[in-house]
Amino acid sequence: MGKITFVEHDGTAHQVELVDGESLMALATGSGVPGIDGDCGGEASCGTCHIIVDEEWIQTTGRRSEEESAMVEMSPECVPNSRLACQLRATEGLDGLTVRLPEFQM
Ligand code: FES
Repeated sequence: MGKITFVEHDGTAHQVELVDGESLMALATGSGVPGIDGDCGGEASCGTCHIIVDEEWIQTTGRRSEEESAMVEMSPECVPNSRLACQLRATEGLDGLTVRLPEFQM
């Protein structure tokens, strides 16, 4: 179905296989990507799955919801393209997506 790439703050890249309908948080934790914890299990209530979407992909992924904003904006590293990985579902359209991880999760 395709792959997405998680890039750690130090530049280490991890390619992960897309699984239709899975959240990007589940894909990352299932593949052992360091820096995505997913402590709340995907309820948008812990902020430990903060990712930053590359600008060129924002049109495809869309911007974060108000619910996501309320959580992710608590991070000092929050930027306009910040998302919660648990709120983004894998689809074929995300093949080739690159997301970056903040230096610290909440
Ligand atoms: S897993 Fe908790 S906010 Fe995403």
